[in-house]
Amino acid sequence: MYRADAPGRVNLIGEHTDYNEGLVLPTATPQRTVVELSPREDQVVRVESDGYMPVAYDWGDYVRGVTWVLTKAGHAIRGFDAGIASRVPPGAGLSSSAALEVALLRALREAFSLSLDDLALAYAAHKAERDIVGARVGTMDQLAASLSRVGEALLIDMRKSQIERVPIPASVEIVVVDSGIVHDNAKQGAYNERRAQCDEAARRLGLASLRDATLGDVERLAPQNATLARRVRHVVTENERVRGFVAALGAGDLARCGALVDASHASLREDFDVSIEELDVLADALRSQRGIHGARLVGAGFGGSVLALADAGCAAEAARTAAEQYRSRTGRTGHVVMPL
Ligand code: GLA
Repeated sequence: MYRADAPGRVNLIGEHTDYNEGLVLPTATPQRTVVELSPREDQVVRVESDGYMPVAYDWGDYVRGVTWVLTKAGHAIRGFDAGIASRVPPGAGLSSSAALEVALLRALREAFSLSLDDLALAYAAHKAERDIVGARVGTMDQLAASLSRVGEALLIDMRKSQIERVPIPASVEIVVVDSGIVHDNAKQGAYNERRAQCDEAARRLGLASLRDATLGDVERLAPQNATLARRVRHVVTENERVRGFVAALGAGDLARCGALVDASHASLREDFDVSIEELDVLADALRSQRGIHGARLVGAGFGGSVLALADAGCAAEAARTAAEQYRSRTGRTGHVVMPL
């Protein structure tokens, strides 16, 4: 019996930048997905789960996707019996699917002695995700699930595939509250649309990707197409915010980190148009708590979770109170994901 696991991910800052060859800063959730696997002599795959996987997709699809990608890449695997247990909440924008893909790939790597390093494993997981889900997602989630550890963030430069480990100081606690809103279908269509808009903007500007765009380009594009110009402005300013955040975190300047997190939310709402009212209400509720520095939606948007930064010792109380206020203002039930 082989046992492997992988975490969900929460992105501190750098949203909708990964598919624009930009910068992201994800870290691992304490919740993990566990896979226990016994190889078989035949080619049959049998999997049981504790019922935690995303509602919109059959988790069996993910298992099929992963085995398909491995087989296609020429890795010799046989059938297996596997059990999946996940504590990563589905539909919360914390990439429970990447956690499953990476945990399963790790178990298969062990069981069949596959030659896959952690980076290759992340890319295999990404291929499986794209084929299954049909959204043209970037590689952040699978890289984070494969490489990140609790207590540190990964500064990933998507253009150079360069990864740097950034310690999260003990003076900072991360708060994540799930809005309880799952918007998978709308999200998939809107996600692909945002991505197509970014590609179109880069094409009009004559750039290889929006990684090369500047605020000057935003000005140039605005008279032609105001929507595309706003998309570009988000990507340009968000990459800058990632750089600023890493510098401020290193200097222990939590107030500055919080201001950048707030600015990220505003940009995602106003320029990238991926927020919804409930996420704005939840972010406001978090911001008004004691010891909180900044709050923003995480992941693709249109639902899922809100992240906030807290002074150490303040996170649990702030999350609980904000979730109560969210419920009284929206009638929706929020779930505290972090701190555990
Ligand atoms: C989803 C995708 C990621 C990334 C984020 C937005 O989580 O899977 O690749 O694009 O949205 O930052």
